[in-house]
Amino acid sequence: MTEDVNTIYKVKLFVLKRVGNFKVLRVLDDLYHIIGLPLGFLTYLFHRLIGRPYFGIWLASAQGHPGRFPYMKKTVEHLAKTSDPEVIRNLKILEIGAYAGGSALVWGRALKNNGATNGKLISVDPWDSYIDLTGNHRIVFRVMNRNLGNGNVLRLFVQNLKAAGVSDVCHQFRGRSEDILPMLNSKFDIIYIDASHHVDAVTKDLELSLPLLKDGGVICGAGLERQLEDLDPEFVKAHFHTDLFIDPKTGQTFHPGITYAVGNCFGRRISHYGGYWVVRKNGEKFEDVVLS
Ligand SMILES: C[S@@+](CC[C@H](N)C(=O)[O-])C[C@H]1O[C@@H](n2cnc3c(N)ncnc32)[C@H](O)[C@@H]1O
Repeated sequence: MTEDVNTIYKVKLFVLKRVGNFKVLRVLDDLYHIIGLPLGFLTYLFHRLIGRPYFGIWLASAQGHPGRFPYMKKTVEHLAKTSDPEVIRNLKILEIGAYAGGSALVWGRALKNNGATNGKLISVDPWDSYIDLTGNHRIVFRVMNRNLGNGNVLRLFVQNLKAAGVSDVCHQFRGRSEDILPMLNSKFDIIYIDASHHVDAVTKDLELSLPLLKDGGVICGAGLERQLEDLDPEFVKAHFHTDLFIDPKTGQTFHPGITYAVGNCFGRRISHYGGYWVVRKNGEKFEDVVLS
């Protein structure tokens, strides 16, 4: 397993995509974590030993669908092609929700590879337990809450960024977005939302982020596998208490809170690539972004 190609994770996604039943999905996901943990620990130790970033089952450090990473990279390349060179030199990215650094590493490398010599990434995260376990019984949530609470995830975040050679452009603000964002006095070219998936949290993150976005800047996020237009809003609302659910029509898993909050905010279908959504601010409007 490397930070770029997380094969076991991809196999998991392949299997889960074919499961049309939420209970079966939960059991399979739990089994995946129980069986994978010992191997995950060994892989984690190996990566530490050779000084490479680690994202895998251990500490649930491989978060979200890895398919979004190439599109995040392409977002920076798209801005680099379509913006003034001065904008790119000073590119400022705000990331809400960082966990073990999967997305931070991609943004950090993209800054370095696209001539953002004065660019920086700010990652906002409380690095503390945040998942309500009453509606979310999967083992992965327990693993996340426990290791966020005891500091293991933050330690891995710091190690990963250092191992990837991007610590110099990445800055961390430890705290909740609702407390930190109102205190930020600069504007950003890219804002990436990947924090709590609860509908109220995503709605708040969007609300607090939009005023911080520069004109011509991009706002994007993870976890939009289905758009609100494709689903019955009442069905989506009925599953707000769970992080992930299955669309009965397509059998595809989706995040009800993200689907609802993003759909409600933009009021239309927006450009999205395998769960990664992205729009660009143009005056009062938000335009779709075409990433090849
Ligand atoms: C899905 S993970 C982020 C994954 C990360 N972007 C990656 O690519 O690996 C969600 C993160 O959001 C953080 N989070 C939860 N509530 C938050 C809040 N109110 N403000 C900022 N971050 C929050 C959690 O601590 C967790 O690290």
